[in-house]
Amino acid sequence: MSDRISVVILAAGKGTRLKLNQPKPLVKAVGRALVDYIISAVESLDHDKVDITVITGHAKELVEDHINQLPSKNKINFVHQREQKGTGHAVQEYMAQSPNASDYTYTFIMCADTPLLSKATLENMITRLKQKDSSAVCASFVAQNPHGYGRIIKSDKGFKITEEKDASESEKLIKEVNSGLYLIKTSYLVDALKSLDDNNASGEFYLTDVFKPGADVEALCFDSEEDFLGVNDLVQLHRIERSLRLRKNIELLESGVRLIDIENTYIDTSVEIGEGTLIHPNSVLQGQTKIGKNCVVESGCVIKSSEIDSDVSIYANSYIEKAKIQSHCQIGPYARLREGSHLAESVKIGNFVESKKSFFDTASKVSHLSYVGDAEIGARTNIGCGFITCNYDGANKHKTKIGSDCFIGSDSQAIAPVEIGDECFVASGSTINQSMPKGSFAISRTRQTTKEGLAKKFIKKKSNP
Ligand code: UD1
Ligand code: CA
Repeated sequence: MSDRISVVILAAGKGTRLKLNQPKPLVKAVGRALVDYIISAVESLDHDKVDITVITGHAKELVEDHINQLPSKNKINFVHQREQKGTGHAVQEYMAQSPNASDYTYTFIMCADTPLLSKATLENMITRLKQKDSSAVCASFVAQNPHGYGRIIKSDKGFKITEEKDASESEKLIKEVNSGLYLIKTSYLVDALKSLDDNNASGEFYLTDVFKPGADVEALCFDSEEDFLGVNDLVQLHRIERSLRLRKNIELLESGVRLIDIENTYIDTSVEIGEGTLIHPNSVLQGQTKIGKNCVVESGCVIKSSEIDSDVSIYANSYIEKAKIQSHCQIGPYARLREGSHLAESVKIGNFVESKKSFFDTASKVSHLSYVGDAEIGARTNIGCGFITCNYDGANKHKTKIGSDCFIGSDSQAIAPVEIGDECFVASGSTINQSMPKGSFAISRTRQTTKEGLAKKFIKKKSNP
């Protein structure tokens, strides 16, 4: 087992300062739970040597269920810290509850709330400890605003870490702070944990007391503060989301996706976009959305968990959720495709069209002001302006089926369940409630009567023109 590393992720805290009704590790940043980021960074390390244990406490079941559903490459272990008596206590619990904990050469301890931590930083820590062969290394950085962090207090004998609450006024001026990331030789950690106490301002067992002046330990000061930013309140969450978003957007630019304004385009880390696609500002792309090559997404579009093939144009302010869109489609502006909308190739959905659970076959068109729900529209069928599927009878939803190569005149309704065959023609202003066989014509409106000269009877004269 030589050189093996046990990664311990501290995630038992409640995250009270966030004021969200959610356990902190599960709070989402740019579409992913905070804890997912740290797990991904750890999993990107050389695998055979790394095992992961997450310390859970507050909302244990929710956190464990979530982690168990991640597509992790290896099994993640859990340790339950029943009462949160501090970071040192969390690691004591880990040691006590994990039978193999002392078999690992190194124990790598990190917090669940630092999503920007990179693989490179983790690897630097490993290289450093191995080179120096010291007992422990703590990652520190110089904070613009050190408030809230443990300070690195240096002396002739080495250094110690003093928490904000325990620091004197002069110690509070120190800007080098503890990041909360530690790589420790397990043999040293086992011993050091035994001597922790809770004689401090918080009455907690501080893990930071493992770093004692005189011990063979080091504070390794990193240049980038950003890497270590933690999420304790919503202001910090906002700052972190900006960084994560920017990282994602730069990654997209590097892969050949054009973004007009990387500061104001909101793309979840989980979204995939193909080369040559152009995304305009103020678009929101979320969840498991995939967009192919050479598409255009104009401003103000919201796209959630949808699959979009190549060469699709989505014009301004369209809202698309759980839809599947094949290549060469044109959508919007102001279109709404709801769950279960499926557009085959070259479909056109125009402005103010809403669809739900409907299939539009190749090159069909619904260009203006329509509602299409629970329907199947055949290939090349053209649906005029203001068409409505009356799919709901107050209790149940019913299907409308329209064949291929049909022409549905403007201002028509289909009262479902109803079936219109291939090559049918529905005259404008018709209400269709009976099925139509292939090739038929239907008109259902009262015949127009025109009476010459009668208009003056109906046009009211205004008293004050
Ligand atoms: C901790 C460090 C501080 C450092 C800062 C960096 C200590 C005593 N202080 O302070 O020096 O500058 O991180 O962000 O360690 N947790 C548990 N069980 C507990 C308590 C906490 O699992 O009993 C977990 C939390 O869920 C969190 C992490 O440990 O993920 C850190 O706890 P937190 O309360 O945020 O520590 P800080 O006060 O930020
Ligand atoms: Ca913290």
